Amino acid sequence: MARSKIGLVGAGQIGGTLALLVGLKELGDVVLFDIVDGVPQGKSLDIAEASPIEGYDARLKGTSSYEDLSGCDVVIVTAGVPRKPGMSRDDLLGVNLKVMEQVGAGIAKYAPDAFVICITNPLDAMVWALRTASGLPTHKVVGMAGVLDSARFRYFLAEEFGVSVEDVTAFVLGGHGDTMVPLPRYSTVAGIPLPDLVKMGWTTQERLDQIIQRTRDGGAEIVGLLKTGSAFYAPAASGIAMAESYLRDKKRVLPCAAHLTGQYGVDGIYCGVPVVIGAGGVERVVEIELDRAEKAAFDRSVDAVKGLIEACKGIAPNLGK
Ligand code: LMR
Repeated sequence: MARSKIGLVGAGQIGGTLALLVGLKELGDVVLFDIVDGVPQGKSLDIAEASPIEGYDARLKGTSSYEDLSGCDVVIVTAGVPRKPGMSRDDLLGVNLKVMEQVGAGIAKYAPDAFVICITNPLDAMVWALRTASGLPTHKVVGMAGVLDSARFRYFLAEEFGVSVEDVTAFVLGGHGDTMVPLPRYSTVAGIPLPDLVKMGWTTQERLDQIIQRTRDGGAEIVGLLKTGSAFYAPAASGIAMAESYLRDKKRVLPCAAHLTGQYGVDGIYCGVPVVIGAGGVERVVEIELDRAEKAAFDRSVDAVKGLIEACKGIAPNLGK
């Protein structure tokens, strides 16, 4: 059977980590693209030279030509700039929007059948821009957000309770920004929802609220520590989980920035919701029932995303035309 071909657009910290994970998980061959000539070639060669030690078989090619994305099954986009301390993700909108226009055109020309995962910030607006610029079907273009936010929530909860991360599930919905919506009612330890764990005395409501806020600030916490850029290991692992579910038709239920067509009362924008990812791309949007407070928080998040998309339309009125 032919190996899958995975295009990674952007050879920065996330792009390099993605390439290594594709190798380690034997997901396929890699084309690592970046406009900075030499960097994708150097990183690809470095990762290829690690393959005899780790024991993975994958062809890795570094390139600065979009043509090399031809025939990609999956394309993961991390191109653009990360934020620095003191910045919000939204501050990146203008500069990264231009990048999405170019990348979208390159994907449309050379990899129109790919499943495309966007990691560039501000995430929900950039995945909308990338989809619009590429003209690809909406179920084949998706944003990585909720997998990362939920992983952070799970990690903090596992640390709090002193249990394995494997036994903690969590859902974070909404936009990948300050208004994201961690959902305690849908987050569990061994199947027990968090509100019940508070009643059982495992933690206090105050502690739980602190963990929820830490989850919302998870990206900024890493930016503050790194000082020169933003998180890359966990974002790369999140993108790979989505790519793997598509390539292996695992049909995992993953919270992602997906294109909504009336689900959750939202139409025509991308926002974080649980979806089933399989060989058909985003095969289903899972509509969970939200109580009044959860719905109000989700609506606030949707409004924030809508504002960013309107800003994109203002800057690039001809996007996708
Ligand atoms: C993250 O959440 O780590 C990413 O969105 C990067 C950032 O700027 O926070």
